[in-house]
Amino acid sequence: AKNVGILAMEIYFPPTFVQQEALEAHDGASKGKYTIGLGQDCMAFCTEVEDVISMSLTAVTSLLEKYKIDPKQIGRLEVGSETVIDKSKSIKTFLMPIFEERGNTDIEGVDSTNACYGGTAALLNCVNWIESSSWDGRYGLVVCTDSAVYAEGPARPTGGAAAIAMLIGPDAPISFESKFRGSHMSHAYDFYKPNLTSEYPVVDGKLSQTCYLMALDSCYKSFCHKYERLEGKQFSLSDADYFIFHSPYNKLVQKSFARLLFNDFLRNASSVDAIAKEKLGPFSTLTGDESFQSRELEKASQQASKRLYDTKVQPTTLVPKQVGNTYTASLYAAFASLIHNKHSELTGKRVVLFSYGSGLTATMFSLRIHEVRHPFSLSNISTVMNVSGKLESRHEFTPRKFVETLKLMENRYGAKNFVTSKDSSLLSPGTYYLTEVDSMYRRFYAQK
Ligand code: ACO
Repeated sequence: AKNVGILAMEIYFPPTFVQQEALEAHDGASKGKYTIGLGQDCMAFCTEVEDVISMSLTAVTSLLEKYKIDPKQIGRLEVGSETVIDKSKSIKTFLMPIFEERGNTDIEGVDSTNACYGGTAALLNCVNWIESSSWDGRYGLVVCTDSAVYAEGPARPTGGAAAIAMLIGPDAPISFESKFRGSHMSHAYDFYKPNLTSEYPVVDGKLSQTCYLMALDSCYKSFCHKYERLEGKQFSLSDADYFIFHSPYNKLVQKSFARLLFNDFLRNASSVDAIAKEKLGPFSTLTGDESFQSRELEKASQQASKRLYDTKVQPTTLVPKQVGNTYTASLYAAFASLIHNKHSELTGKRVVLFSYGSGLTATMFSLRIHEVRHPFSLSNISTVMNVSGKLESRHEFTPRKFVETLKLMENRYGAKNFVTSKDSSLLSPGTYYLTEVDSMYRRFYAQK
């Protein structure tokens, strides 16, 4: 199989959201902390009728329908999620009725979990399957689905919710450059979910930022090393057209891109422009650890990378800024933003992605964009995802109503024997929603 990669995408996020500006005021945070400080505009959240299963049902059925894919053509289905609804039964099995109905139960794959990385693990598995000798000629399907909610406090504005479905196969418009991959895996307690009675993580915010940036450094080094070995020349930011990052909040994305520029500067100062050389010069003698602690370096490298950020990163930031951190879906929501903004000018471009999951696991990998025919053309993917239509038709909730919703969800987490309001009035036609959890914890969904 040649040019294996992403053939088609669909994105779903709840139509309910809060404005970060309103949340700032409600939380008593200083004005601008969430919007400028974190760089976020809005945050989507599930109400009591939605969850990671309903969102993934919606994304998968919509993808199959809009690209006219027969469920029998799917040979592998993998889900990435860190939202635990059941400690044994995979989210994948909740999606199986879509395929069983058409007589297809011959579908490999289960769920992958490690914080925000599970979607990437699922994606790499599917790509590897299609490139392997066990591939049976059918498509792979990857689903990333998460509802990111935090306890009251500084992490709460960095929540979000979404599901993304991606069809995987050969001759793809978005293909993997599989040789160019760098990973960094290690043991850390930066963000984890040890409390099985709560949906909220235990999070050391500052540590998680440092872990993220250190993993980025390490992945970039391996990535560059492999590139250089295979291509016989150094890799620098100029060798890719776009850089896409796991996006817990936009400020971290700005810092990440700046960090890559600093890496280029250290490795080969002639690969960065004169302004960057001048701004970064004073930091060339810092040790690795010092460089992660230096606020001055952070500011200087952000300034030095601003121009490149605007062309190589900014077009990827729309959905993460509007919807929030969607955990496993976050990186792919950023990618969806790029397709939405630039679909007509991406042919031939190289896109480098960085996936991070606390705990910790991270991979940097490279994709190449090709022109292919309908229905898998980028312009059709953009039309199907309809990002602006979905953003525009949302319903704003006040922070008070948002907090009330989270309180209700706290009580519902792990509970049995309840029916929901079954109120689907805010959902668009075709959306799945939760109706009931019975006395045996069995969950029931309906489609609007
Ligand atoms: N106007 C403008 N900027 C402001 C203002 C203001 N009024 N107030 C603060 N800021 C800036 C700060 O200077 C800081 O920016 P800087 O880092 O560029 O200096 C930024 O806003 C955030 O302020 P902090 O005081 O650092 O925020 P706090 O520590 O309260 O919380 C944090 C931020 C740690 C990210 C928290 O939201 C969190 O724990 N989130 C969850 C963890 C997370 O997402 N980690 C990322 C990787 S792991 C993952 O994906 C889950």
